[in-house]
Amino acid sequence: MRHLITLDDISPPEINRVFELSAELKLKFGQGIRESLLPGRILALLFEKQSLRTRVSFEAGIAHLGGNSLLLGEDVGFGSRESIEDFARVLGSMVDVIVARAKTHATVEALANHADCHVINGLTDLAHPCQALADLYTIRERFGELRGKTLTWIGDGNNVATSLARACNCLGMKFVCCTPEGYELDSEVVADFTQRFPNFELTQSQHPQDAVREAAAVYTDVWASMGQEGERAQRKADFAKYQVNPKLMASAPDNAIFMHCLPARRGEEVTDDVIDGPQSVVLQQANNRLHVQKGILAWLLRESHDEPPQP
Ligand code: CP
Ligand code: NVA
Repeated sequence: MRHLITLDDISPPEINRVFELSAELKLKFGQGIRESLLPGRILALLFEKQSLRTRVSFEAGIAHLGGNSLLLGEDVGFGSRESIEDFARVLGSMVDVIVARAKTHATVEALANHADCHVINGLTDLAHPCQALADLYTIRERFGELRGKTLTWIGDGNNVATSLARACNCLGMKFVCCTPEGYELDSEVVADFTQRFPNFELTQSQHPQDAVREAAAVYTDVWASMGQEGERAQRKADFAKYQVNPKLMASAPDNAIFMHCLPARRGEEVTDDVIDGPQSVVLQQANNRLHVQKGILAWLLRESHDEPPQP
Protein backbone atom coordinates (compact mmCIF):
# COMPACT_ATOMS: atom_id res chain seq x y z
CA MET A 1 0.00 0.00 0.00
CA ARG A 2 1.53 3.32 -1.04
CA HIS A 3 1.50 6.37 1.22
CA LEU A 4 2.79 9.93 0.92
CA ILE A 5 4.29 10.72 4.31
CA THR A 6 7.48 12.35 3.06
CA LEU A 7 8.92 12.81 -0.41
CA ASP A 8 10.97 9.65 0.14
CA ASP A 9 7.70 7.86 -0.67
CA ILE A 10 7.58 9.01 -4.29
CA SER A 11 10.23 8.77 -7.01
CA PRO A 12 11.21 11.63 -9.37
CA PRO A 13 9.45 9.98 -12.38
CA GLU A 14 6.35 9.54 -10.23
CA ILE A 15 6.47 13.24 -9.25
CA ASN A 16 6.67 14.13 -12.92
CA ARG A 17 3.65 11.91 -13.56
CA VAL A 18 1.76 13.67 -10.74
CA PHE A 19 2.63 17.00 -12.42
CA GLU A 20 1.40 15.71 -15.79
CA LEU A 21 -1.91 14.63 -14.26
CA SER A 22 -2.19 17.93 -12.36
CA ALA A 23 -1.60 19.94 -15.54
CA GLU A 24 -4.19 17.92 -17.50
CA LEU A 25 -6.76 18.26 -14.74
CA LYS A 26 -6.04 21.98 -14.32
CA LEU A 27 -6.49 22.60 -18.04
CA LYS A 28 -9.74 20.66 -18.15
CA PHE A 29 -11.01 22.36 -14.99
CA GLY A 30 -10.38 25.72 -16.70
CA GLN A 31 -12.51 24.50 -19.61
CA GLY A 32 -15.33 23.58 -17.24
CA ILE A 33 -14.65 19.84 -17.45
CA ARG A 34 -14.56 17.84 -14.19
CA GLU A 35 -13.36 14.36 -15.01
CA SER A 36 -14.86 11.70 -12.80
CA LEU A 37 -11.65 9.69 -12.33
CA LEU A 38 -12.40 8.52 -8.77
CA PRO A 39 -16.13 7.74 -8.52
CA GLY A 40 -17.16 6.26 -5.20
CA ARG A 41 -13.77 6.82 -3.59
CA ILE A 42 -13.81 8.18 -0.05
CA LEU A 43 -11.26 10.50 1.49
CA ALA A 44 -11.19 11.02 5.26
CA LEU A 45 -9.61 14.20 6.60
CA LEU A 46 -8.21 14.36 10.10
CA PHE A 47 -6.78 17.64 11.42
CA GLU A 48 -5.08 18.19 14.78
CA LYS A 49 -4.13 21.71 13.65
CA GLN A 50 -5.90 24.43 11.69
CA SER A 51 -5.98 24.41 7.88
CA LEU A 52 -7.61 26.30 5.03
CA ARG A 53 -5.66 25.39 1.89
CA THR A 54 -4.91 21.74 2.62
CA ARG A 55 -8.39 20.95 3.86
CA VAL A 56 -10.32 22.74 1.13
CA SER A 57 -8.07 21.63 -1.73
CA PHE A 58 -8.48 17.97 -0.75
CA GLU A 59 -12.22 18.28 -0.16
CA ALA A 60 -12.87 20.18 -3.38
CA GLY A 61 -10.35 18.04 -5.27
CA ILE A 62 -11.96 14.67 -4.45
CA ALA A 63 -15.41 16.14 -5.20
CA HIS A 64 -14.21 17.32 -8.64
CA LEU A 65 -12.96 13.79 -9.30
CA GLY A 66 -16.33 12.23 -8.45
CA GLY A 67 -15.44 10.99 -4.96
CA ASN A 68 -16.49 12.08 -1.50
CA SER A 69 -14.81 13.40 1.60
CA LEU A 70 -15.43 13.00 5.31
CA LEU A 71 -14.09 15.75 7.54
CA LEU A 72 -13.56 14.04 10.89
CA GLY A 73 -14.08 16.41 13.81
CA GLU A 74 -13.38 16.13 17.50
CA ASP A 75 -16.41 13.85 17.92
CA VAL A 76 -14.47 10.89 16.48
CA GLY A 77 -12.22 11.07 19.53
CA PHE A 78 -8.95 10.76 17.65
CA GLY A 79 -6.11 10.37 20.16
CA SER A 80 -8.36 10.13 23.20
CA ARG A 81 -11.05 7.48 22.76
CA GLU A 82 -9.02 4.52 21.51
CA SER A 83 -5.49 3.74 20.42
CA ILE A 84 -4.23 5.28 17.18
CA GLU A 85 -3.63 1.74 15.91
CA ASP A 86 -7.27 0.69 16.42
CA PHE A 87 -8.47 3.99 15.01
CA ALA A 88 -6.32 3.48 11.90
CA ARG A 89 -7.43 -0.15 11.40
CA VAL A 90 -11.12 0.75 11.59
CA LEU A 91 -10.96 3.95 9.51
CA GLY A 92 -8.68 2.31 6.94
CA SER A 93 -11.21 -0.48 6.43
CA MET A 94 -13.91 2.03 5.44
CA VAL A 95 -12.20 4.68 3.32
CA ASP A 96 -9.71 4.77 0.45
CA VAL A 97 -7.47 7.59 1.66
CA ILE A 98 -6.73 9.30 4.96
CA VAL A 99 -5.25 12.80 4.88
CA ALA A 100 -3.87 13.65 8.31
CA ARG A 101 -2.40 16.84 9.74
CA ALA A 102 -0.84 15.94 13.05
CA LYS A 103 1.09 17.56 15.87
CA THR A 104 3.81 14.94 15.61
CA HIS A 105 5.15 13.11 12.59
CA ALA A 106 4.95 9.79 14.48
CA THR A 107 1.14 10.05 14.51
CA VAL A 108 0.94 10.08 10.71
CA GLU A 109 3.47 7.25 10.52
CA ALA A 110 1.35 5.21 12.97
CA LEU A 111 -1.74 5.78 10.83
CA ALA A 112 0.16 4.64 7.74
CA ASN A 113 1.52 1.58 9.53
CA HIS A 114 -1.89 0.37 10.64
CA ALA A 115 -4.47 1.60 8.13
CA ASP A 116 -5.20 -0.61 5.14
CA CYS A 117 -5.66 2.42 2.88
CA HIS A 118 -3.47 5.19 1.46
CA VAL A 119 -2.32 7.78 4.00
CA ILE A 120 -1.24 11.28 2.96
CA ASN A 121 0.64 13.66 5.24
CA GLY A 122 -1.26 16.96 5.35
CA LEU A 123 1.54 18.55 7.45
CA THR A 124 3.50 17.46 10.49
CA ASP A 125 6.27 19.08 12.51
CA LEU A 126 8.79 17.48 10.10
CA ALA A 127 7.28 17.59 6.63
CA HIS A 128 4.68 19.10 4.31
CA PRO A 129 5.12 17.05 1.13
CA CYS A 130 1.93 18.12 -0.68
CA GLN A 131 2.91 21.77 -0.24
CA ALA A 132 6.36 21.18 -1.69
CA LEU A 133 4.93 19.33 -4.71
CA ALA A 134 2.48 22.18 -5.45
CA ASP A 135 5.34 24.67 -5.05
CA LEU A 136 7.65 22.98 -7.54
CA TYR A 137 4.71 22.60 -9.90
CA THR A 138 4.21 26.38 -9.60
CA ILE A 139 7.89 27.08 -10.31
CA ARG A 140 7.68 24.78 -13.33
CA GLU A 141 4.64 26.66 -14.63
CA ARG A 142 6.64 29.89 -14.43
CA PHE A 143 10.05 28.78 -15.71
CA GLY A 144 9.46 25.50 -17.55
CA GLU A 145 12.58 23.49 -16.80
CA LEU A 146 13.44 23.12 -13.10
CA ARG A 147 16.82 21.44 -13.38
CA GLY A 148 19.70 23.72 -12.32
CA LYS A 149 17.44 26.47 -10.95
CA THR A 150 17.88 27.72 -7.37
CA LEU A 151 15.21 27.94 -4.70
CA THR A 152 16.32 30.16 -1.81
CA TRP A 153 14.62 29.70 1.51
CA ILE A 154 14.74 32.65 3.93
CA GLY A 155 13.64 32.06 7.52
CA ASP A 156 13.06 29.05 9.74
CA GLY A 157 14.43 25.65 8.68
CA ASN A 158 11.02 24.12 9.34
CA ASN A 159 8.69 21.45 7.97
CA VAL A 160 8.04 23.29 4.69
CA ALA A 161 11.76 24.01 4.18
CA THR A 162 12.60 20.34 4.77
CA SER A 163 10.10 19.09 2.19
CA LEU A 164 11.13 21.75 -0.32
CA ALA A 165 14.78 20.74 0.06
CA ARG A 166 13.85 17.14 -0.71
CA ALA A 167 11.62 18.19 -3.61
CA CYS A 168 14.47 20.26 -5.09
CA ASN A 169 16.75 17.28 -4.69
CA CYS A 170 14.27 15.03 -6.53
CA LEU A 171 13.90 17.39 -9.48
CA GLY A 172 17.48 18.64 -9.90
CA MET A 173 17.13 22.08 -8.33
CA LYS A 174 19.64 23.74 -6.01
CA PHE A 175 18.42 24.60 -2.52
CA VAL A 176 19.87 27.49 -0.50
CA CYS A 177 18.65 27.53 3.09
CA CYS A 178 19.23 30.87 4.78
CA THR A 179 18.36 30.87 8.47
CA PRO A 180 19.58 32.51 11.67
CA GLU A 181 21.97 30.41 13.72
CA GLY A 182 20.04 27.81 15.69
CA TYR A 183 17.17 27.63 13.18
CA GLU A 184 18.88 25.60 10.44
CA LEU A 185 17.37 22.53 8.82
CA ASP A 186 17.49 19.55 11.17
CA SER A 187 21.11 18.39 11.19
CA GLU A 188 20.15 14.70 10.95
CA VAL A 189 18.05 15.43 7.86
CA VAL A 190 20.95 17.33 6.27
CA ALA A 191 23.38 14.52 7.12
CA ASP A 192 20.97 12.01 5.60
CA PHE A 193 20.54 14.06 2.38
CA THR A 194 24.29 14.56 2.08
CA GLN A 195 24.97 10.87 2.52
CA ARG A 196 22.24 9.63 0.16
CA PHE A 197 22.52 12.34 -2.49
CA PRO A 198 26.16 13.48 -2.74
CA ASN A 199 25.40 15.51 -5.89
CA PHE A 200 22.57 17.49 -4.31
CA GLU A 201 23.56 21.17 -4.14
CA LEU A 202 22.29 22.12 -0.68
CA THR A 203 23.85 25.27 0.75
CA GLN A 204 23.24 26.69 4.21
CA SER A 205 23.75 30.40 4.81
CA GLN A 206 23.13 33.11 7.39
CA HIS A 207 23.34 36.00 4.89
CA PRO A 208 20.06 36.78 3.13
CA GLN A 209 21.50 39.26 0.60
CA ASP A 210 24.06 36.72 -0.64
CA ALA A 211 21.64 33.80 -0.44
CA VAL A 212 19.17 35.29 -2.94
CA ARG A 213 21.73 36.32 -5.63
CA GLU A 214 21.01 33.39 -7.93
CA ALA A 215 17.47 32.63 -6.80
CA ALA A 216 14.81 31.73 -9.33
CA ALA A 217 12.43 31.70 -6.36
CA VAL A 218 12.72 33.39 -2.97
CA TYR A 219 10.57 31.54 -0.44
CA THR A 220 9.63 32.31 3.14
CA ASP A 221 7.20 31.07 5.80
CA VAL A 222 6.09 32.20 9.26
CA TRP A 223 8.83 32.49 11.86
CA ALA A 224 6.75 30.59 14.45
CA SER A 225 4.86 27.60 13.10
CA MET A 226 1.66 26.20 14.57
CA GLY A 227 2.52 24.87 18.03
CA GLN A 228 5.37 27.38 18.50
CA GLU A 229 3.17 30.34 19.41
CA GLY A 230 4.83 30.60 22.84
CA GLU A 231 8.19 31.30 21.14
CA ARG A 232 6.83 34.05 18.94
CA ALA A 233 8.39 37.05 20.69
CA GLN A 234 11.82 35.42 20.87
CA ARG A 235 11.62 34.32 17.24
CA LYS A 236 10.53 37.78 16.10
CA ALA A 237 13.76 39.14 17.55
CA ASP A 238 15.91 36.30 16.22
CA PHE A 239 14.52 36.55 12.66
CA ALA A 240 14.41 40.36 12.39
CA LYS A 241 17.17 40.45 9.74
CA TYR A 242 15.47 37.72 7.70
CA GLN A 243 12.43 39.65 6.50
CA VAL A 244 11.71 39.43 2.76
CA ASN A 245 11.27 43.08 1.78
CA PRO A 246 11.93 45.14 -1.37
CA LYS A 247 15.59 45.64 -0.40
CA LEU A 248 16.16 41.88 -0.21
CA MET A 249 14.23 41.22 -3.44
CA ALA A 250 16.44 43.85 -5.14
CA SER A 251 19.43 41.56 -4.50
CA ALA A 252 17.73 38.67 -6.32
CA PRO A 253 17.63 38.38 -10.13
CA ASP A 254 14.98 40.66 -11.71
CA ASN A 255 12.87 37.70 -12.84
CA ALA A 256 12.92 35.93 -9.44
CA ILE A 257 9.53 35.06 -8.04
CA PHE A 258 8.42 35.43 -4.43
CA MET A 259 6.77 32.42 -2.77
CA HIS A 260 5.06 31.73 0.55
CA CYS A 261 3.03 28.66 1.52
CA LEU A 262 0.54 30.88 3.44
CA PRO A 263 -0.87 31.78 5.88
CA ALA A 264 1.52 34.75 6.18
CA ARG A 265 2.15 37.14 9.03
CA ARG A 266 2.38 40.28 6.96
CA GLY A 267 4.89 42.78 8.31
CA GLU A 268 6.96 40.00 9.93
CA GLU A 269 8.55 37.52 7.51
CA VAL A 270 7.32 39.47 4.45
CA THR A 271 6.21 43.03 3.74
CA ASP A 272 2.93 43.87 2.01
CA ASP A 273 4.70 45.38 -1.00
CA VAL A 274 6.52 42.08 -1.69
CA ILE A 275 3.66 39.66 -1.05
CA ASP A 276 1.25 41.83 -3.07
CA GLY A 277 3.89 42.88 -5.60
CA PRO A 278 4.49 41.82 -9.20
CA GLN A 279 7.04 39.11 -8.32
CA SER A 280 4.69 37.34 -5.91
CA VAL A 281 3.07 34.07 -7.02
CA VAL A 282 1.51 33.23 -3.64
CA LEU A 283 -2.07 33.06 -4.90
CA GLN A 284 -1.13 30.91 -7.89
CA GLN A 285 0.78 28.70 -5.44
CA ALA A 286 -2.25 28.39 -3.14
CA ASN A 287 -4.59 27.68 -6.06
CA ASN A 288 -2.19 25.04 -7.38
CA ARG A 289 -2.68 23.13 -4.14
CA LEU A 290 -6.10 22.17 -5.58
CA HIS A 291 -4.78 20.98 -8.93
CA VAL A 292 -1.77 19.13 -7.50
CA GLN A 293 -3.86 17.40 -4.80
CA LYS A 294 -6.01 16.10 -7.66
CA GLY A 295 -2.88 14.92 -9.45
CA ILE A 296 -1.67 13.21 -6.27
CA LEU A 297 -5.03 11.50 -5.68
CA ALA A 298 -5.39 10.37 -9.29
CA TRP A 299 -1.86 8.97 -9.31
CA LEU A 300 -2.10 7.31 -5.88
CA LEU A 301 -5.49 5.69 -6.43
CA ARG A 302 -5.28 4.79 -10.11
CA GLU A 303 -1.64 4.34 -11.04
CA SER A 304 0.73 3.88 -8.10
CA HIS A 305 2.39 0.51 -7.73
CA ASP A 306 2.64 -1.15 -4.34
CA GLU A 307 6.39 -0.81 -4.05
CA PRO A 308 7.72 2.56 -2.82
CA PRO A 309 10.98 3.86 -4.34
CA GLN A 310 14.25 2.45 -3.01
CA PRO A 311 16.06 4.88 -0.68
N1 CP B 1 -0.14 26.12 3.21
C1 CP B 1 -1.01 25.37 3.91
O1 CP B 1 -0.81 24.19 4.16
O2 CP B 1 -2.11 26.05 4.32
P1 CP B 1 -3.15 25.53 5.39
O3 CP B 1 -2.44 25.49 6.71
O4 CP B 1 -4.24 26.58 5.37
O5 CP B 1 -3.64 24.18 4.98
N1 NVA C 1 5.38 26.08 8.92
C1 NVA C 1 3.98 26.34 9.00
C2 NVA C 1 3.32 25.97 7.72
C3 NVA C 1 1.83 26.20 7.65
C4 NVA C 1 1.25 25.78 6.33
C5 NVA C 1 3.39 25.57 10.16
O1 NVA C 1 3.77 24.41 10.37
O2 NVA C 1 2.56 26.12 10.89
